[in-house]
Amino acid sequence: MRKLLPALLAAGLAFAPLSFAQAQDGQGPTENTASEEAAAGQDASAEAAEEGHAETPHYPLRHPEQLNWSFAGPFGHWDVAQLQRGLKVYKEVCSACHGMRLVAFRNLEALGYSEAQVKAFAAEYTVQDGPNGDGEMFERPGIPSDYFPSPFPNTAAAAAANGGAAPPDLSLIAKARAVERGFPTFVFDLGTQYQEAGPDYIHALLTGYDQEPPQAIAESLQPGTYYNPYFISGPALAMPPPIGDDQVEYPDGSPQTVDQYSRDVAAFMMWAAEPHLAERKATGFVVMIFLVVFAGLLFAVKRRVWAGTAH
Ligand code: HEC
Repeated sequence: MRKLLPALLAAGLAFAPLSFAQAQDGQGPTENTASEEAAAGQDASAEAAEEGHAETPHYPLRHPEQLNWSFAGPFGHWDVAQLQRGLKVYKEVCSACHGMRLVAFRNLEALGYSEAQVKAFAAEYTVQDGPNGDGEMFERPGIPSDYFPSPFPNTAAAAAANGGAAPPDLSLIAKARAVERGFPTFVFDLGTQYQEAGPDYIHALLTGYDQEPPQAIAESLQPGTYYNPYFISGPALAMPPPIGDDQVEYPDGSPQTVDQYSRDVAAFMMWAAEPHLAERKATGFVVMIFLVVFAGLLFAVKRRVWAGTAH
């Protein structure tokens, strides 16, 4: 093993100049074409700039602001009051268009509700069941083992009702959407264990509607779409601004603003996508302590075992 590594290195050094020379040989003509192309490209983009077209834009046009979440970091935990508010926002606003088909009513006990409260909550929904003895589907009030019903029977119907874009199911959206953070931020993210890109994105999206589009974009917007510089796949999306100030009543006196609603519903979505996040972090911390103690033990044992051997 000790000899293998230098041998490999030496082989690498010996072959490197060879492949470099080959590359240079082959590159003569290619290099020319490349620089010609680049010059042509510059001309084209200069022309485009004169005509008022920008180069291909990268979405999102703006990056989400990084917020402080109670569930961030190695000691992250849920803010149960916040999750309850988020559930209220989802139920009263978002559920008109978005389903959450992977979350069952019984899961809501994790938000600090009693069994009776969950039963009452589920009963407020109507779910389809069946077929019954006559082969008919029928509707009945929800029970805790039911899942949140989707507002549309299928994606096609959902798209038809929303100008051609189906509202995605929100069960996993907090994990399904994340804006790339680029260099060097993503390097630091490894150290800080940043995992909140999803909720940061949802909050930015919901609060990002009040911006004026630049002239060039305003002219090219499709009818029935709404400009939002935080939308991850274009300048505008088919979701109208879903929520306004004072739209949902908060019994606990928290501010009834779009900003607060967005934080709460984004936190709720993170819980929906990863309900065991807090347990995962708590377990991880205990495991780290165990590993440190275990490493110490191993070291002590190793010294003991080899104590009598001359070396
Ligand atoms: C009037 C119906 C409607 C309501 C109410 C609504 N949405 Fe949407 N939502 C949509 C549609 C339609 C899309 C798909 C937009 C697109 O792809 O252009 C969407 C997309 C989204 C997306 C995904 C964006 C992406 O990156 O693809 C998120 C997240 C979202 N909505 C969150 C919410 C939240 C949170 C609420 C409640 C505060 C809400 N929506 C209320 C219709 C709605």
